[in-house]
Amino acid sequence: KFIGDLTGLHVLEEQIKEILQVDRVVVVPGDSDDNTWVQKEMGKACIASLKKLVGKQNTIAVTGGTTMAAVAESMTSLNKESEFLFVPARGGIGEKAENQASRIVEEMAKKVGGEYRQLYVPDPISDTTYETIINEPSIMEVIQRIKGADIVIHGVGDALKMAERRRTPDDVITLLKEKNAASEAFGYYFDQTGNVVHKVKTVGIQLEDLDNVDNVITVAGGRSKGVAIASYFKRGRGDLLVTDQGAAEQILRGS
Ligand code: BG6
Repeated sequence: KFIGDLTGLHVLEEQIKEILQVDRVVVVPGDSDDNTWVQKEMGKACIASLKKLVGKQNTIAVTGGTTMAAVAESMTSLNKESEFLFVPARGGIGEKAENQASRIVEEMAKKVGGEYRQLYVPDPISDTTYETIINEPSIMEVIQRIKGADIVIHGVGDALKMAERRRTPDDVITLLKEKNAASEAFGYYFDQTGNVVHKVKTVGIQLEDLDNVDNVITVAGGRSKGVAIASYFKRGRGDLLVTDQGAAEQILRGS
């Protein structure tokens, strides 16, 4: 069932802003748990908002995932006068190829007529590989670009679903369950009150790096992610949330 009119969605947007304490919220009709086209609608809404944020020179860091893949699919030319560099926010090997950030930034850059960099490193990454890899000049250059991003566009996942998708060891899954992990973003696992209960080692954006970014856009929807979205916003930064009605109504029920 949809709220047929836009007024209903605007009311929902205002309520979510208040509950999550986010500056801007866009709610698209439907529930992406039920229909994949809803994810594409979130993608379009994200691009429409992004257009208003771009400057003359833009470095845009993007995570992977099915939601970001939908954003890439909806990408259109943003502003012909501006320059764009798309970088993966974190390494992505471990995700399915089509959902890896490296693939997504390439698609976005091609559609926008911009440049992109790749970051082909494992995620999560072991301590020893990390130390070697971050000293590679080509990797270092990409990391610098990532840390200097003007805009970050990222997904949020349900903690246990993401842990399983990222082939997390059993002992870590047990820990996540014990600590009631609710959400995952940027390799951080948060509980419902926003405590970081676990973090995987990743090359790329760390939570504290978000303080230096002009705009953080969070895109996540589906009623199954309602709890995860609320959990992320207890701690993580997001200036704009693009979500769907299914997630928004779940967030309302949970408050
Ligand atoms: C990932 C992000 O690639 O997308 C994760 O790095 C996030 O932090 C995930 O949890 C969400 O995936 P999806 O497929 O639900 O959009």
